[in-house]
Order: sequence, then structure tokens, then C-alpha cells
Amino acid sequence: MSETRPISLWNVGGVHFGQGAVAQCPIGLAERGCTRAFVVTTPHVSNLVASLLAQLAERGIAAEVWDRLAAEPTLTEFDDALRTARACGADCVIGLGGGSVMDVAKLVAALFDGRQQIEDVIGVDRLAGRTLPLVCIPTTSGTGSEVTPIAILEDEADELKKGTVSRHLVPDVACLDPELTVSMPRAVTASTGLDAMTHCIEAFANRFAHPIVDSFALEGVRLIAANLQRACDDGGDLPARAAMLRASYYGGLCLGPVNTAAVHALAYPLGGRFHVPHGIANAILLPHVLRFNLEAAPARYAQIAAALGVERTGNDLRDAETGIERIEALSRACGVTGGMSAHGISSNAIPHMAAAAMTVTRLLDRNLRVVTEEDAFRIYEAAL
Ligand SMILES: [Fe+2]
Repeated sequence: MSETRPISLWNVGGVHFGQGAVAQCPIGLAERGCTRAFVVTTPHVSNLVASLLAQLAERGIAAEVWDRLAAEPTLTEFDDALRTARACGADCVIGLGGGSVMDVAKLVAALFDGRQQIEDVIGVDRLAGRTLPLVCIPTTSGTGSEVTPIAILEDEADELKKGTVSRHLVPDVACLDPELTVSMPRAVTASTGLDAMTHCIEAFANRFAHPIVDSFALEGVRLIAANLQRACDDGGDLPARAAMLRASYYGGLCLGPVNTAAVHALAYPLGGRFHVPHGIANAILLPHVLRFNLEAAPARYAQIAAALGVERTGNDLRDAETGIERIEALSRACGVTGGMSAHGISSNAIPHMAAAAMTVTRLLDRNLRVVTEEDAFRIYEAAL
């Protein structure tokens, strides 16, 4: 947590924010001389796709649309996207959608030239470069993937999500337009918003925390505490949607230089094996991991509690515990209820899940407390 520790923020350029920001996408691509865009998206946002294609056409850019993601992306689906992009002769890639869509777009742009295969680049700093321009346009407020150097795919063979981390995955341009998020259903608003909250909390209370990132993290927590329920209760509340999109962006800014920790590590097996949506998996585990971590840094967790709106009493531990109760109350108010068993996970699965979580060392190494396999087992039991 030293101010002198060097950190690198790759993701501070090329960000357009506000109503109409999406217009910057075709402008930026035309300036780069692009004429054929590969658009990764989903059928849920087909009206937004139609509008984007019209704007691209106005700038002389043709487009091939790939919208075959069933849920969170698998290696097989990624291969299909990459083959389609190559077949159509794309000279740029656009991701229009949530985190899954943007992660696929990022990896297609990075691996398009065939120099490396996906298996070669899973892990940290293994990507040699990226030849195709890349624009990301989020339609959810959660992953912050539009500004992160991270992409996650599910490896169906071992039922675990695998991450690629490289500065070459950071999009050239991110267009953040709150109007694009208003049609998000309540459940998606809740789960993605709680994911963004988890990014901010795990980056603030982290072995690699840094004062530059702390500012984004605390502001993100404050914005989510004040706006998530509003956005859930009234999807058309544009100021709340804008605040959530900003919070998601701040969470994304935390992920490159600091990243997350044990909540995300333990959430991976819930997604990989049981297909629990990423944000829900985090929301289920967050209070339990925080209670486990609390003793390692009560003062840090008390600062998070203050950002959540808890009035400080001078007793850090008590304030931090009140903060966890606030998070639980916010989740309930947004309709996120029930533990792992509500998603079909029984206690029989816990030993396998605890062993799988232990393999996510790139995140566990960042946690403020060492998490043993037995600790993971107990946290899963508490979250059942
Ligand atoms: Fe996340």
C-alpha cells in the first residue's frame, strides 16, 4: 500500500463518456482507415446494433455481426468468433454488450493474426501484441471490461474460468453511454452492479492496493451504494444509470494495476461448474469473504463502510461489520437473495470447488489474508 510502489495504468486514454458517446466509435475507426468491422454482440441488444451499423455505414465502414454467445463465453464459442472474424476479413473489432461480449471482442482482436493460440496467452503478460484496432461499448455496468487488460473465458474441459491479462487487451477506444444501459433488466442491473462493487472493494482491501487506485475504488463504492437500488427500481433513471456506468468504469480502472482477490477466486468455480452468473457468484461470496478478511485490515474495511454510507463510530471493526450488513441489505433490496444452494449447489460439491479455487493463485495471492483450502471450504459452507 505504498505511494512509492510503481504501478502502471494502461487504461486511461481513448475513453468517451456521456449521452451520444457511441458516435465516437465510427469516427475513431474511420480515422484509423478501417473499412470492415467485426462486431461481437448479443441478440438482446439488436436495436443498439442496428443503430451502430447505421453509424458505421455513414463513415463507409461495413460490418459483420457475430452474436452467438449463449451465456458467459467458452473456448469453443471464442474459436467460432475468431474463425468468423478471419473469414470476413475484418480490419477492426467492436464489442457491443456486457463483459462476456467485450472479452470475446478483445481476444479476437488480439489473436486475429494467428501468431499465438488462446492456450499460449492464458495467464499474465503472455500476449505478444495486437494488430487490429479495438473499440468496446458496454451495455451493462459491471465488469469495466471496456477499460481493463483482462479477458475471461470458460475452459469447458476443466469447468474453470481462465483469465488472460495483458496491456494489449486494453481497447483503443471505450464509448460509455448511459442510454445504452437503460434497457438492462433488473436482475442483470443488480448482478453486474454488485460485480462492480466487488471490484472496488477487493482492489481497495488488497495486498497490492495503491493510493491512485484507492481513489477510484472508494468513489466506485460510494456511487454504487447511492445508485444501484435506484437503477434496479427504475431502469429509466438516467442519472442513476450514468452513476453506475461511471462506477463500473472506476472498478475497471482498479483491475489492471491492482485486480481483485479471494471473492473472485472463490467465485470462479460457481461460474465454471454451476453457471451461476459472475455478479451473483460474487454477491453470494462477498459478505463471507469480507468477514474472513476483516481481522487483517479493520481500518481499510472501515473506510469501505464509510463509502457505503456507514457513520463512523471510531471502532473500525464494528464499522466494518456494519458495512458488510449494508452490502447484504443492498443485495436483498436489489432482489439478490439466497446462497449457493439456491443455485443448485449442494455441500457435496464443496470439496471440489475448494480445490478448484486454490488454483486461482493470481487472485488469491492478492488477498489480505492467506486462504487455505480448508478456509475456502469453510467460506463455501457459510455461503451455502
Ligand atoms: Fe468481476
